[in-house]
Amino acid sequence: MNKKMTITSIQKAKGVVPIVMLTAYDALFAKLLEDSADMILVGDSLNMSFAGKDDTLSATIEQMIYHTNAVCLGAKNTFIVCDMPFGTYTTKEVALKNSIKIFQETRADCVKIEGGQDKSHIVEHLVNNGIAVCGHIGLLPQSVRGEGGYKVKGKNEEDRTSLLDDAKAIQNAGAFCIVVEGVKADVAKEIAQNVKIPVIGIGAGVDVDGQVLVFSDMLGLFEAFTPKFVKKYIDGATVVKNAFANYADEVKNKKFPTQEHTY
Ligand code: KIV
Repeated sequence: MNKKMTITSIQKAKGVVPIVMLTAYDALFAKLLEDSADMILVGDSLNMSFAGKDDTLSATIEQMIYHTNAVCLGAKNTFIVCDMPFGTYTTKEVALKNSIKIFQETRADCVKIEGGQDKSHIVEHLVNNGIAVCGHIGLLPQSVRGEGGYKVKGKNEEDRTSLLDDAKAIQNAGAFCIVVEGVKADVAKEIAQNVKIPVIGIGAGVDVDGQVLVFSDMLGLFEAFTPKFVKKYIDGATVVKNAFANYADEVKNKKFPTQEHTY
């Protein structure tokens, strides 16, 4: 069993060894991926992948707490990040109340907040009150309706400067690491070079300090759509559907159970 990472060891990994982050939403998958992941993100992407919604916006704090508790039980020896869902960090007071709820009701090691310079005062308030924070800048899934779609960031000079300022603001506010999502690779590289905290990329190229993928995407289980940055390590949907079809076929034809599976 690998030693559980801490905020200090995560920070020391920057520039030394890439950090592996994966999402998980339940104990079963958390246990399966625990040996491979340095950090597990209980992402609000569970609202799409697990709950079947079209976006992350209706995820609730109760949902996040429920899934985080399951993940913590499945992966007792892994650093756990709990996403703060949409609408739960609108002001620093609201953010503190909700992150305290997460810390009191789960064993999450930190919370994650989407936003840059506009959210730095919130990050600072949480950190000053004993809540470890992972930032999240670039393409922000919680802004999908406000922005009219999922838009790759860093395509022009103004965007590049703003992303660099976002990363610095989140770092200076006390976040111990940042997820950078859907950002042109050269800009993500520049961000990683210009902050002291680890930058964990998703759709941000290889020149960052680690990578995160949604487990159901990389297992090929989520079929609704596949972003360009997702690599399917197995065609999970086909494997699973074939297994279900085989079972159904054997039940219909009375080939299951055989003597082997009978008392
Ligand atoms: O909710 C999530 O899974 C995330 C990742 C896409 C980084 O925030």
